[in-house]
Amino acid sequence: MNPRYDFTGQVAFVTGAAKGMGLATARMFVANGASVALVDRDGDLAEREAERIMAEGGKAFSIACDVSEEEQVAAAVDATAASFGRLDMAFNNAGIQVPPSDAAEESLSAFKRVVAVNQRGVWACMKHELRIMRRQGSGAIVNCSSLGGLVGLPERAAYHGTKHAVLGMTKSAGVEYAPRGIRINAICPGTVDTPMVADMLEGQPDAMAGILKLQPIGRLGRADEIAAAVLWLCSPAASFVIGVALPVDGGFTAH
Ligand SMILES: NC(=O)c1ccc[n+]([C@@H]2O[C@H](COP(=O)([O-])OP(=O)(O)OC[C@H]3O[C@@H](n4cnc5c(N)ncnc54)[C@H](O)[C@@H]3O)[C@@H](O)[C@H]2O)c1
Repeated sequence: MNPRYDFTGQVAFVTGAAKGMGLATARMFVANGASVALVDRDGDLAEREAERIMAEGGKAFSIACDVSEEEQVAAAVDATAASFGRLDMAFNNAGIQVPPSDAAEESLSAFKRVVAVNQRGVWACMKHELRIMRRQGSGAIVNCSSLGGLVGLPERAAYHGTKHAVLGMTKSAGVEYAPRGIRINAICPGTVDTPMVADMLEGQPDAMAGILKLQPIGRLGRADEIAAAVLWLCSPAASFVIGVALPVDGGFTAH
């Protein structure tokens, strides 16, 4: 997968960039000329990936940051703007799963953990990215929701709640900032082959067949298929697209 845009001279901020769809998106931004901040709680892994990109001739640097801590997010955004001089595009992607649970039994600690990363993390990232972008009067932000932002599934109340919240924040901030030259959208990935899904399937040999039954396309998504949608939303090709929740899910939410 090799979509072509000209992001030369532009700066992208990607959270959860050490692995999975965040890493695929960071690499695709670099392949299209952008300078990229790889932001991740796992600073060592993010650093290794940034070094790999630089060894291949790309412009990247890593920042260790837990998106559930607002001060760390503010510092990461400021470090990106200070290093590269601006901030044009952001993919607020860092997120976690919590184990499926009967809604009557879900623990408060799991609920707090998933809200802190998936909902408060996106809120903090958007807040501090907008601080820089509104000064410039330009920018594009893509927040990572999920098919879980569009539909409900049994035993997923907490996770799906956070992903619905991402869409509410996207739409509200999207209409607020559209007149100021900043476009904010969300993607809703279906089940994608990443370390998160590998962890989810570990020890459940029969689970894959159940997942595939729900995917009209008959396979899992690939991380680069999500990256391609993020780049499109950030590109001038999506210049009239504001506040959408774009499913990239092999047809999951179409039935
Ligand atoms: N994989 C899927 O099928 C799928 C489907 C729908 C939505 N999503 C969403 O896509 C996003 C990425 O998923 P993935 O499958 O690539 O995940 P992944 O687990 O493979 O990678 C996630 C990355 O985020 C980082 N991260 C986790 N918590 C963090 C925090 N608090 N601060 C900073 N970094 C943190 C991890 O270290 C890791 O590098 C998540 O928001 C997830 O909810 C995934």
